[in-house]
Amino acid sequence: MKIAVVGTGYVGLVTGTCFAETGNDVICVDIDAQKVQRLSAGEITIYEPGLNKLFLRNLKEERLKFTTDLAAGIRDATIIFLALPTPPGTDGTADLRFVLSVAGELGNLMTDYKIIIDKSTVPVGTAEKVYRAIANNFKGEFDVVSNPEFLREGVAVDDFMKPDRVVIGTSSDRARKIMEDLYNPFVRQGNPIIFMNERSAELTKYAANAFLATKITFMNEIAQICERMGADVDMVRRGIGSDERIGKRFLFPGIGYGGSCFPKDVQALIKSSVEVNYEFKILNAVMDINERQKLHLIPKVKKYFNGNLNGKHFALWGLAFKPNTDDIREAPALYMIKAFIKEGCTLSVYDPEAMGNVKALIGDSVKYGENQYEVLENADALIIATEWNEFRTPNFLKMVSSMKNKVIFDGRNLFDINAIRELGFYYESIGRAVAIPSNNPHKMQA
Ligand SMILES: NC(=O)c1ccc[n+]([C@@H]2O[C@H](COP(=O)([O-])OP(=O)(O)OC[C@H]3O[C@@H](n4cnc5c(N)ncnc54)[C@H](O)[C@@H]3O)[C@@H](O)[C@H]2O)c1
Repeated sequence: MKIAVVGTGYVGLVTGTCFAETGNDVICVDIDAQKVQRLSAGEITIYEPGLNKLFLRNLKEERLKFTTDLAAGIRDATIIFLALPTPPGTDGTADLRFVLSVAGELGNLMTDYKIIIDKSTVPVGTAEKVYRAIANNFKGEFDVVSNPEFLREGVAVDDFMKPDRVVIGTSSDRARKIMEDLYNPFVRQGNPIIFMNERSAELTKYAANAFLATKITFMNEIAQICERMGADVDMVRRGIGSDERIGKRFLFPGIGYGGSCFPKDVQALIKSSVEVNYEFKILNAVMDINERQKLHLIPKVKKYFNGNLNGKHFALWGLAFKPNTDDIREAPALYMIKAFIKEGCTLSVYDPEAMGNVKALIGDSVKYGENQYEVLENADALIIATEWNEFRTPNFLKMVSSMKNKVIFDGRNLFDINAIRELGFYYESIGRAVAIPSNNPHKMQA
């Protein structure tokens, strides 16, 4: 099949590459000329495990091409995916300008039947708006389908190639048949393609993200009371996660969710609910709690240093909003950096993939290390913001030789409390007891 993907970011590039991988001819369109140039030259523009190999193979086989020219990109395609940004507008509603302006342009360019597919996360009713934007300029036959994307950055290729389910919102039999043929190679193990109407498909995506954000936030609240009640959130997590109705996943407490999706989608669903006169109370709470959670470690650090952080120097491990990605959108680490700098601290930071993006955003307001150990030099404490695997079993001896103090504040619960106490560290994490080594004047917290 001939496919165009408009918008070649995290979703568009994975979508385009994976459809090329199953033998389709794909042209990815983007307005960012530099991005298109790099991609055309074989240079991948995002870090996503497993993507580079597929990208290079399909580029070489000429099943995957890139252009800035929308007209050329869609000319031969029957299927056009819109993988465009839908950032929060000033009032928190999803900003549909990118999607609707491209839809308007498509109307001017289309000459024959095409299916236009909203892969972006868009509020309920957007398929109708896209339809109208195209129909204003094109009088022929076409269909607009809602096909929300559920991939997770960090495992996006696997998620796309072997999706738990594919959700397709359409009321057109013609579009349904083409979508089924397109996705059948991805669901050979029997995972469902779930057909529904456009509005239900649009809401399914928001409901999924809002539910997952709520699950994380619930555990962050449980962690808060664990700290106050002397319970261990790791044990509580295991205790409840073994109940099949609850499930083991998404129960890990931390310093809040970030990324390009959960924060904006929770906010957009709240706003969409208001538009239909409904106050989505749980989600309002989820948003508030998450804002607070991102800075959960700051008062702990401040308390440890007797209320004054001015002049302190910290090492920070992890900048990406989660491991295995270079995406820093809404990353808790960025909120912490800002808060620490405001307190008069200096920071040396390290992330395996996200440092380039952080440098582009905040420049040299922090120092960037070559590796996780270099940033520990003279650090008053280590702060951990992202659970990259390479941080899980570090060389503690090497750490100790560089750090000024053996003090760790861990926003992702990477270490075993008893083991780290044995190593002589003062260690605070989320929802667990504080580890205070025996030679430290502090007492173990209840
Ligand atoms: N990132 C994720 O994990 C994820 C997962 C599921 C769904 N989504 C949704 O998918 C959509 C895209 O997200 P993303 O993370 O890929 O965004 P992104 O910012 O990484 O990519 C968007 C791309 O669109 C391009 N673009 C902007 N205007 C354009 C135009 N007029 N014509 C052509 N290209 C244009 C940008 O240059 C950019 O390359 C959003 O709605 C998001 O909510 C994202």
